[in-house]
Amino acid sequence: MSERLALRGPCLSFRAPPWREGAAALRFEPDALILLHEGRIVALDDHARLRAQVPDEMHVVHYDSNHLILPGFIDAHVHYPQVQMIASFGLRLIDWLKRYTFEVEQQYADPEHAAHEARVFLDECLRNGTTSACVFGTVHAHSVDALMREALSRDMRLFAGKVLMDRHAPPTLCDTADSGYADSRALITRWHGQGRLGYAITPRFAPTSSPRQLELAGQLAAEHPDCRIQTHIAETPEEVAWARELFPERKDYLDIYAHYGLLGPHTLLGHGIHLSDDELQRIATCGACVVHCPSSNLFLGSGLLDLGRLRQTTPSPAVALGSDVGAGTSLSLLRTLGDAYRIARLHGFALNALDGLYLATRAGAQALGIADRVGALEPGMEADMVVLDLCSTPLLAHRMRHCRDLEEALFAQMILADDRAIRATWVAGRCLYERADRVS
Ligand code: GUN
Ligand code: ZN
Repeated sequence: MSERLALRGPCLSFRAPPWREGAAALRFEPDALILLHEGRIVALDDHARLRAQVPDEMHVVHYDSNHLILPGFIDAHVHYPQVQMIASFGLRLIDWLKRYTFEVEQQYADPEHAAHEARVFLDECLRNGTTSACVFGTVHAHSVDALMREALSRDMRLFAGKVLMDRHAPPTLCDTADSGYADSRALITRWHGQGRLGYAITPRFAPTSSPRQLELAGQLAAEHPDCRIQTHIAETPEEVAWARELFPERKDYLDIYAHYGLLGPHTLLGHGIHLSDDELQRIATCGACVVHCPSSNLFLGSGLLDLGRLRQTTPSPAVALGSDVGAGTSLSLLRTLGDAYRIARLHGFALNALDGLYLATRAGAQALGIADRVGALEPGMEADMVVLDLCSTPLLAHRMRHCRDLEEALFAQMILADDRAIRATWVAGRCLYERADRVS
């Protein structure tokens, strides 16, 4: 039997969206004991209540009241090859892709480069409290092998896919409809269901795939209904116009993906800023999800997603949160939530901290179809957790002393905190990251 281990400290987790269910949506324990065994949470309750039932020799890692244990963050849209080009200057989406992204992604023809960058990416995820992600590789199949290998060695719950792209990109970055299908199928065989890994079929976006490539991607999705599908949609007005010009027979941008069998409950659609009400309703109806990438949208000047409008649309589409690095400027989902708040304000909408933290945890798990395993702290769930230090900077420490309640404290974190607030990151019951200055 593996060693019994427990975490003690304040903890917060969500059962449902707070904006829908209010206080019933969350569980806050000011002093919880979380018992772990074989990578899972086996019990969680108030420390005083649970402690009497566990053996004295159990190892307890204690985080004091200046901390908060949350489910690990889930980044539902991110490009690992773009970490090395984060913060590239001055262009909008399509020029940014041509000038920076396609230049850099060619370097992944070298498997050693891919392996190195996969390590950097996962280290950075853990340093930012992110325990799961849905990740774009490059067009090179081995870019996904490199990431999957590295994620497997850390036992992370991760989805990734090889980019499908057979036009409107440099020839060295293009596959063909047939090779993209064959490579993706081989990757699914190698990785889908290995450890905690899953495959995401990854047409980059409609403009860089021929109709035949989208058709074969849809065929692959039909043959592997358990795989996820990730792509981009309606990030900028120019891109929407381009997609419609390339697929004039389709009713709108969403209809391109729907027509080729790429729209369903396992589909994650990055951005979705410039979608019509009708498109949003169809996304909701089929159970797909919009991944809000606020940092990226601000950085490229792509537009401002109206979260309030999405919530008011009936039916309303599911929304998750993505860093979209390297158009996004941080792998910190706390920083990303700060950007989501600011964008919402420009629409007159206020994203509160509970709603925000739900987006960064359980909403991502729902979007990825893994909410029965991660995204919440409950007995039976896999023990992926992030421990926030609520006093990670002098300013935050000062602000915490003047907070009247939990929500006020969490909102200040959402606006002011970043990677420095990550005290520790736990994956499948093991501490894989601990901030270097730990003293106790
Ligand atoms: N649309 C197509 N490819 C990309 C990409 O790499 N990043 C972003 N932000 N949008 C895209
Ligand atoms: Zn993206």
